[in-house]
Amino acid sequence: SWKISSFIEQEVDSIRERVGQSRVICGLSGGVDSSVTAALLYKALGSQLTCIFVDNGLLRKGEREQVEYEFGEHFKTDLHVVDARDRFLEALAGVTDPQKKRKIIGKTFIDVFKDESAGIENAHFLAQGTLYPDVIESGANPDGPAATIKYHHNVGGLPEQLGFELIEPMRMLFKDEVRLMGHELGLPEKLIWRHPFPGPGLAVRCLGEITHDRLETLREADAVLIEELYDSDYYHKVQQAFAVLLPLQTVGVMGDARTYEDVIAIRSVDTDNFMTADWSRLPYDLLQRVSTRIINSVRGVNRVVYDISSKPPSTIEWE
Ligand code: XMP
Repeated sequence: SWKISSFIEQEVDSIRERVGQSRVICGLSGGVDSSVTAALLYKALGSQLTCIFVDNGLLRKGEREQVEYEFGEHFKTDLHVVDARDRFLEALAGVTDPQKKRKIIGKTFIDVFKDESAGIENAHFLAQGTLYPDVIESGANPDGPAATIKYHHNVGGLPEQLGFELIEPMRMLFKDEVRLMGHELGLPEKLIWRHPFPGPGLAVRCLGEITHDRLETLREADAVLIEELYDSDYYHKVQQAFAVLLPLQTVGVMGDARTYEDVIAIRSVDTDNFMTADWSRLPYDLLQRVSTRIINSVRGVNRVVYDISSKPPSTIEWE
């Protein structure tokens, strides 16, 4: 729209003026807020922009590849993909407490980000996709950086710690305006309308101990669910949907043999603001396909259950 394109032009001018010849670092998460921020900065600064994407091993299937395509090939930013999978796995080894998982992930992220950004010369600015709801600290932007920022503040504040000045070009915008902006800047619709994904990623959906193999099981099951949602045109009818790997085995039967394997729970919610939510009334035949495909194709899973709890009193995530 005209309003959005003139806002973009205005921001491009003011970013250029503020930054001068300096380099700007933008942390990419793969989500819509950081992606739109990076696309805007790329328009303003071109090769003066460095994007950092941390692969923490807790991403969904294909997520890293999407970021590599979008910001390495489509937008040819100076993209640094940091493979920190082992570092996160090692830090999380043996940890089952949800809050401990979150703390470890937050701290490890800061360490990794610090190490990577330390090697980037002439960078005085850090860009963040903070939205207006984050600024006023409402919970209306669940996938925004608010949770991470609050956490970072607890451990000293990432930008300050690193000696950066903050650039937050979207701090006056709401989510729908950010989506319009993403559209205007040429980001794919699939990314613009992606469901929110928590900072700690699959870690808070992999109940119990986090191992490479358990993450792989969860990632495969989640990919089946998401694919079936897209194929049935249900992805955009629900606000958030995902698989959860439970920390227990149950008995099943295959041929003449008894199995004792993992359980996958499917969570899908309808919600306006993520503060309250209702479980989605997904069609039985869709649930049937998801269940059959997960059990047939994901090794080590012999049971799929559907979460029929509302928020409150349940939360959307299981941890
Ligand atoms: P709950 O589970 O609290 O989730 O009903 C509400 C929304 O917030 C997201 N969520 C998080 N986002 N870091 C994030 O960035 C987190 O630690 C976190 N925990 C929950 C959740 O996915 C849902 O959209």
